[in-house]
Amino acid sequence: VQQRRTLAATPHYDIKKVGVVGLGLMGHGIGLVSAQAGYEVIAVEAQAPALESGKKRIDKSLSKILSKAVEKGKMTLEAAEKEKEKVERRITYSLDLAALRDADLVVEAIVENLDVKIPFYKQLGSLVKPTAIFGSNTSSLKIGDFAAPSGRPQQFVGLHFFNPVQLMRLVEIVRLHETEPAVFETVRGYVARIGKTAVTCQDTPGFIVNRLLVPALVQAMLMKERGEASVEDIDVAMQLGAGHPMGPLHLADYIGLDTCLFILEGWVKKYPNEPAFIVPSSLRALVQGGKLGRKSGEGFYVWE
Ligand code: CAA
Ligand code: NAD
Repeated sequence: VQQRRTLAATPHYDIKKVGVVGLGLMGHGIGLVSAQAGYEVIAVEAQAPALESGKKRIDKSLSKILSKAVEKGKMTLEAAEKEKEKVERRITYSLDLAALRDADLVVEAIVENLDVKIPFYKQLGSLVKPTAIFGSNTSSLKIGDFAAPSGRPQQFVGLHFFNPVQLMRLVEIVRLHETEPAVFETVRGYVARIGKTAVTCQDTPGFIVNRLLVPALVQAMLMKERGEASVEDIDVAMQLGAGHPMGPLHLADYIGLDTCLFILEGWVKKYPNEPAFIVPSSLRALVQGGKLGRKSGEGFYVWE
C-alpha cells in the first residue's frame, strides 16, 4: 500500500539577505561583518544624516581592516582594493523600512528604548516577508516585550553583539520559549559564518555579559562619586590589577553613557528590588549635560 507523506509545515529558513536597522555604534559593525562574510546586506536608518554617517563608518572601518591586512602581508594591495569593492557592492542603504521586505534575517540595533522598539517591531512585522527571522541587539531589555508585538515570537531571538563588533568575538543568542528550534539553528549558522563564537542564554536582564559587567561599571562610577579614587586610577587599577583590556570608566565612555543610562533606568524601573541595579547620579548628570562618552567627545574623559 502506498503511503502519502506530507511535508512538515515548518518553514525552511535560509539566510542570504541580512537587514540591519540602525547604523550607529553597533549596527554599522553588524552590517560590515555580515557583508564581509558574503551576505547581501540591506542597511536601514531613520534619518539621512545618520545614514550618511553609518556609511562613512562602514567605509572607514573596512579600509582600516583591509589596510591592516596589507600591512601584515596577508593580502596584496590589489586584492584589498578588489575585496573592498566586493564588500561595498554587497551593501545597499535605505531610509525606508520597506527595503527589508525580502530580508531573511533582520538585526535591529536602534536606540535602547522600549517605547521606540515596540512600535518599530509592530511596523517591521507587517512589512517583512513571513519567513524572515528577527534578531534584536538590545543590551538589556526583555526580548519577549517586543517579540510579541512583532507578531512572530517563534522567529525571534536576541542577537547580542559586543562593541566594537569588528573585533569582539562573542555573540549571545537569546532563546525565547517560543523560538523555533530551526530558527535557533539557522541563527547559530549565521553567527558561525561571520566568525563569532555563540553562547546561548535565556531572556533575563543583561543576559550573561551585561548582567555581570554593567553592575561593575556602576560600582566604578559610585567609587568615583565617593571620591575614593580618580577616574584614571580606577581604570589603571582594573587594567593592570584585573587584566581587563579597558578600565570600567573608559569602557562606559566607549559603550556610550546614554546607552548605559538607558540600560540602568530600564532595569531599576522593571526590577526595583534588585540591589545591583542602581543609577549613579554622576551618570545621569553627564548624560543630561550632553556628555555621552566617546561618541559626543566627552564623558568621564575628554575624547579628541
Ligand atoms: N574597525 C576596524 N578596525 C578597528 C576598529 C574598528 N571599529 N577598532 C579598532 N580597530 C583596529 C585598530 O586600528 C587596531 O589596528 P592595529 O593593530 O593595526 O593598530 C586593532 O583593531 C586593534 O585596536 P586597538 O589598538 O585599539 O586594540 P586594543 O588592543 O586596544 O583592543 C579593544 C581594542 C578590542 C576594543 C579592547 O580595548 C577591548 O577589548 N576593550 C574592551 C571592549 C569591551 O569590553 N567591549 C564590550 C562592551 S559591552 C558591550 O558591548 C555590550 C553592551 O550591550 C553594552
Ligand atoms: P547608537 O545611538 O550609536 O545608534 C542607534 C542608531 O539607531 C542611530 O543611528 C539612530 O539614528 C538609529 N535609529 C533610531 N531609531 C531608529 C528607527 N526607528 N529606525 C531606524 N534607525 C533608527 O546606539 P548603539 O550603541 O549602536 O546601540 C544600538 C542598540 O545596540 C541598543 O539596543 C543598544 O543597547 C545595543 N548595544 C549597544 C552596545 C554598545 O556598546 N553601545 C553594545 C551592544 C548592544
